[in-house]
Amino acid sequence: MCGIIGYCGHRPAVPLIIEGLKRLEYRGYDSAGVAFARKDGFEVIRSAGKLGNLEEKLGGLYVYEASAGVGHTRWATHGAPTEQNAHPHTDATGRLVIIHNGIIENYAELKAEMAAQGVTFRSETDTEVLVNLIAKGLDETKDMLQALSWALNRVEGAYAIALQNIDEPDAIYAARKSSPLVMGLGVGENFVASDIPAFLPYTRKVVFLEDGEMCKITASSWSVFQVRDITPVDKEVHTIDWDVQAAQKGGYKHFMLKEIFEQPKVIRDCLAGRLDLSASRVCLPEIENMEIPERLIIVACGTSYHAGLWGMYLLESWAKVPVSVEIASEFRYRDLILDEKDVVLAISQSGETADTLAGIRIAKERGAKIIGLCNVVGSSVARESDAVIYTQAGPEISVASTKAMCSQLTALLLLALYWGEKRGSLDSKLRDGAVRGLSELPGLLEAELPALRGKASQLARKYSEARSFLYLGRGLNYPLAMEGALKLKEISYIHAEGYAAGEMKHGPIALIDPNFPTFALAPVDDLYPKVKSNLEEVQARAGKIIALTGPEAELAVDDPWRVPTPQSPLCSFVFLPALQLFAYEMADYLGKDVDQPRNLAKSVTVE
Ligand code: M6R
Repeated sequence: MCGIIGYCGHRPAVPLIIEGLKRLEYRGYDSAGVAFARKDGFEVIRSAGKLGNLEEKLGGLYVYEASAGVGHTRWATHGAPTEQNAHPHTDATGRLVIIHNGIIENYAELKAEMAAQGVTFRSETDTEVLVNLIAKGLDETKDMLQALSWALNRVEGAYAIALQNIDEPDAIYAARKSSPLVMGLGVGENFVASDIPAFLPYTRKVVFLEDGEMCKITASSWSVFQVRDITPVDKEVHTIDWDVQAAQKGGYKHFMLKEIFEQPKVIRDCLAGRLDLSASRVCLPEIENMEIPERLIIVACGTSYHAGLWGMYLLESWAKVPVSVEIASEFRYRDLILDEKDVVLAISQSGETADTLAGIRIAKERGAKIIGLCNVVGSSVARESDAVIYTQAGPEISVASTKAMCSQLTALLLLALYWGEKRGSLDSKLRDGAVRGLSELPGLLEAELPALRGKASQLARKYSEARSFLYLGRGLNYPLAMEGALKLKEISYIHAEGYAAGEMKHGPIALIDPNFPTFALAPVDDLYPKVKSNLEEVQARAGKIIALTGPEAELAVDDPWRVPTPQSPLCSFVFLPALQLFAYEMADYLGKDVDQPRNLAKSVTVE
C-alpha cells in the first residue's frame, strides 16, 4: 500500500529510486512518480499506471545529475489514480516536495482553512494539503524540523512521509505515524523507505522509525527526533540477515509460485531450534515466562485470520485454552470485555496491518498481554507486542499470501504442542506422532509439490469457465476452505465462498447447479462421512465437485484429487499448497496479474 523511497548519496538518484520502487511494487499501486532538485526548482515526473509508464517518461529526460531524490508508488485513497493525483506533490510555492503513505483524516478541514487563506490546490489528495501545511509551518518557524513538528502535531490520521526542501537539496526529512518507515544506512549514502527490499542491494544496516518520530538524512549523516517536541532520539542500528536473493524470483514465473514452492523450507526454518526431536519436545523461549492464558483472543485479517481460525481448533483440543478468533477491523470497534488475565495473539505476516495494530493497542489499554505472531522482523506488531514468535518465512513478495500462512500454521501447531505439554493435557502418543510427523513434513511436501502443481494446472483448465466456486470443509478444513476461496478470488477474480460444509444446507445449497462447482476438502478422517453426505447433497443438484482427499478415499465425484494425507492436523500442510496452486494456475491460465492483483495491496496500512 503505497511505496516510499528517498535517497541521499553519491549515485545518480533517479535510476536507483526507480529500481527501489520496483522492489516495492509488491505493495500494490496504481500510479507512480519521482522528484529531485534542479538549480531552478523541483523536477516532478509522474504517471498513472505501472512503473513502465513512468520509465517511458523519464527516458526522454536527463536525470543523472541528482544524487538525492524521492520516489513513490501510490495506492489511491483520496482521488482517482490519475497523473494529477500521483505523488510527489509540491506545495503551492514549489519550495517543498512530498511523498506520503497513509490517510490524513482531517484534511478536509485543513484544506478549507488554507483555501480561505488563498492557497490553491491542484489535486484531490490529502497529501497536497499536508505539504502546504508544512510549508505554512516553514513560513512561521523558518526551520524544517520545527515546521514538520508544527504541522504534524495538527494532523490526524496515518502517515509515512518523506520530503525535500529546495533550500537543502541534499537532505531528506521523513516522519511516521501508523505507517511503516525504515532508514537504510550505507557508506556515503542513506535511505528512507517503506520496506527494506527498496534499498537492500546497498545496505543491510537499518533503523526502524517508531510512531511519532521523524528523521533527517543526508549522504553522510542521519538523526532522529520526536515529532512532538523535536527532542533527539537514540536509535539502535539493526542488521538484516536476509539478502537480495531471497527477494527475487529465482527462475520462477511469479513470486507466488516461488513462494508456494518454498514451503518445505519455511516449515524447516520455523521448526529450527524449536523442535527437540530426541526429547519429543517443543521449546518456545519467546513465551517461556508467560503463563498459559485463561482465555486467548486471536486478532488478525485476511489469510492471517484464516490461520488463526485453524489454530483455534488445535489450541482448544491440545492445550485446552478457550480461544476466540476475531477479524481485527471488527474487534477494534467492539465494546470489548478484556482484562489483564487475557492474552491477545496478533497474527500478521507484514506486522504493519493497520487494523491488527489498532487491535493490539486497544487490547493493551485494557491490560491484556500481547503475543505477536509475525514474519517481518522489527515490524510494528513485533515492536508493540509483549512477546514475539517470528514465523521465519523470509520475505513474502507476492500480494497473495502463501508461504506466510504455512509458517503461521507451523508456529500455531508448535504453540498448541507447547502449551498442551506444559498443561499436561496432551496425550503423549499424539504428541510424539505430531512431532515426528512435523519433522517429516518438509521432505514429504518437497516430493509432492510438482505433482500438486500438475493436477492443479489440469483442473484449472477444466474449470476455467466457472464464474463462481463454493469451497467446503469441516473442522480444520473449514478455515482452509475459506483460504482456498480467498486465494481464488483475489488473484483470478472468480467469485468464491468458503463455507463450513454442514452450513451449506442453510443457504448456499440454493446456488448449486451444473455451472457452480464445489471444491471440497474431504480427508478420510472422523468427519469424512459427514462431508461425504454434504457432497451427495451437491451431486443431487447436479453440482460438479473437485474433492481434495486421501489416496484411500472412495469418493464418486467428478474430480477426486487424491494426495498423501498425513495424520490430522498435518494433512493441512498438503491441502494448503494444493489450494494455492489451483488458484495460481487458474489466474495464470486466465492471464491475470498474479503477483500484483488489481486493487490489492500487500500490506494494508490504512483502515
Ligand atoms: O500482513 P498481514 O498478515 O497482517 O496481512 C493481512 C491481510 O491483509 C493479508 O493476509 C491479505 O488477506 C492477503 N492478500 C491474502 O492473500
